[in-house]
Amino acid sequence: MPNTVLIGAQWGDEGKGKIIDVLTEGVDVVVRFQGGNNAGHTVKIGDEKYVLHLIPSGILHEGKSCVIGNGVVVDPVALMKEVDELEERGFTTAGRLLISDRAHVVVPYHGAIDGAREQALSEGEKIGTTKRGIGPTYSDKVSRVGLRMGDLLSDDLEDLLDRRVEESNKVLQALGGEPLDKAALIASYMAIAPRVAPYIADTVTFLNKSMAEGKSLLFEGAQGTMLDIDFGTYPFVTSSNATAGGACTGSGIAPHRMDRVIGVIKAYTTRVGEGPFMTELEDEIGALMRKEGNEFGATTGRPRRCGWFDAVVGRYAAAINGVDYWAMTKLDVLDKVETIRICTAYECDGVTYESVPANTRILERCTALYEEMPGWQCSTKEATKFDDLPEAAKAYVNRLCEITGVKLGILSVGPKRASTLRIAI
Ligand code: GDP
Ligand code: IMO
Ligand code: MG
Repeated sequence: MPNTVLIGAQWGDEGKGKIIDVLTEGVDVVVRFQGGNNAGHTVKIGDEKYVLHLIPSGILHEGKSCVIGNGVVVDPVALMKEVDELEERGFTTAGRLLISDRAHVVVPYHGAIDGAREQALSEGEKIGTTKRGIGPTYSDKVSRVGLRMGDLLSDDLEDLLDRRVEESNKVLQALGGEPLDKAALIASYMAIAPRVAPYIADTVTFLNKSMAEGKSLLFEGAQGTMLDIDFGTYPFVTSSNATAGGACTGSGIAPHRMDRVIGVIKAYTTRVGEGPFMTELEDEIGALMRKEGNEFGATTGRPRRCGWFDAVVGRYAAAINGVDYWAMTKLDVLDKVETIRICTAYECDGVTYESVPANTRILERCTALYEEMPGWQCSTKEATKFDDLPEAAKAYVNRLCEITGVKLGILSVGPKRASTLRIAI
């Protein structure tokens, strides 16, 4: 079985959780490699709905191992809440879930700084973060002052926390926030550490050993290409590499061990949070997409902004990630749309852009150039194979693949496992 990297090709929420759930059957280990509990990955099994934030979606398959890699930032309180919820619903985590000793720890001052920084920004500058402390935790990592999961096992944890809270409280106050109660924070982390301890492991060795034994790995990306710290619409991005390269640096598996990349992409586009969105629809069609697609954040509950499929983003994501196959989701959401538009390029000040320009100020002023296709105006939800689809829907999907230069691997026409058409993978 090949090792597969699965990433989001747009601004997150493409349906990665659903596709991971479908693919987990054929692999041995599922690995998260970046992000934190800013992610919300939804899996629907029958009438049951699960939303995973930190734990790989593979946990819903008993017998599979799940790894939270070194590239992830872990809020131990949120993690244990997720563990408890899963156990209550009948899933085991002991012995199946491993967390890298190198993964960085999210501490409440990170969330407080995240919130205070957002508060201090003026309208138009705000990022609209999830306020989960993701940016500040990665900042501490890169500044070499972060705490790692391995530190939770160390005798000097109390002292480490003490020093970090001191400094972070100063930062917080400089940003206009209230300092945190140091004693209470230290006490709560000293209490949670022994609960998390059994899950902490040398996952680099575990993953490389698993591979040597012939086991296959599935890497579960969080967020999406356009939220990537390097390639996204900076500064309106998250703070990690959500693109395929992040799977190597976030897990300790070498690039040539990755056999294929699957890009999850919606048949239209959504974005939650602030920042440029070139094909956004603020009309009744956008509202229809939000309603039909239930486009509300799985983590924050915020309504997602909706718009047409953006092939510029699709081509860009295909290139950066080396996407071998699309897992295209939510085709059914377009069932009632009369005429569907596809963005083929952008235009700004008389210049045409066929790839995403780095300058966000230019992007904000870009107009999308479109081609149109007729909608199918009937249900695709019952389709079990590609041939069941109406001709206009087939033509639309084929056009999206053609214009982005990527083959179709999976097509999804509903949230449940059964609504998944396996085309080429
Ligand atoms: P993720 O963050 O990429 O895992 O995506 P989210 O779980 O945040 O958002 C995707 C949403 O779309 C979830 O509510 C899924 O249940 C739902 N979903 C996934 N695939 C499909 C599909 O093909 N059709 C419809 N209608 N919903 C889907
Ligand atoms: P999944 O894995 C969609 C967005 C936030 C904000 C920006 C920065 O479910 O696809 P952060 O809290 O990361 O500093 O916020 O990134 N964002 C997401 N949008 N899906 C996600 O994850 C996201 N994780 C972060 O809304 O705009
Ligand atoms: Mg999500």
